[in-house]
Amino acid sequence: SAILLLNGPNLGILGQREPEVYGTDSLADIAQAVREEVAGPDWKVVSIQHDSEGDLVRAVHDNYDTVGAIVNPGALMVAGWSLRDALANYPRPWVEVHLSNVWAREQWRHESVLAPLASGVVVGLGALGYRLGARALLALAARESA
Ligand code: DQA
Repeated sequence: SAILLLNGPNLGILGQREPEVYGTDSLADIAQAVREEVAGPDWKVVSIQHDSEGDLVRAVHDNYDTVGAIVNPGALMVAGWSLRDALANYPRPWVEVHLSNVWAREQWRHESVLAPLASGVVVGLGALGYRLGARALLALAARESA
């Protein structure tokens, strides 16, 4: 089984992007951490990052066969309507992750058009949030197949 790890705009430069806000782990480090978290012969992690919304929409379409998704939409959280519609048709549970505590930041970051569709949201725990998201998905996937 595979988990989809989907990251949106400006997250491909993690490690070098405002490290005081987003930490020093690269996206490759984060993907590796998620792989460790779901470690096992039957599990793989499909890690995809795009800066443009259309490519993210297509990545959702192309990965309906995954058992769940971890999604950091970046700034698309506030107005990513086509990503929102794509996730509405994603057949499995997914969790939204934000590295920073968006609630402690500018007002415009306080809205997520995606979160109402998510099984849960992890915010403000840095790279650890992705590990926690992976743990949640494993539990949700087990519940679905029980
Ligand atoms: C982010 C928070 C968003 O507000 C911002 O636009 C990002 C990163 C986070 O992971 O903290 O690109 O999603």
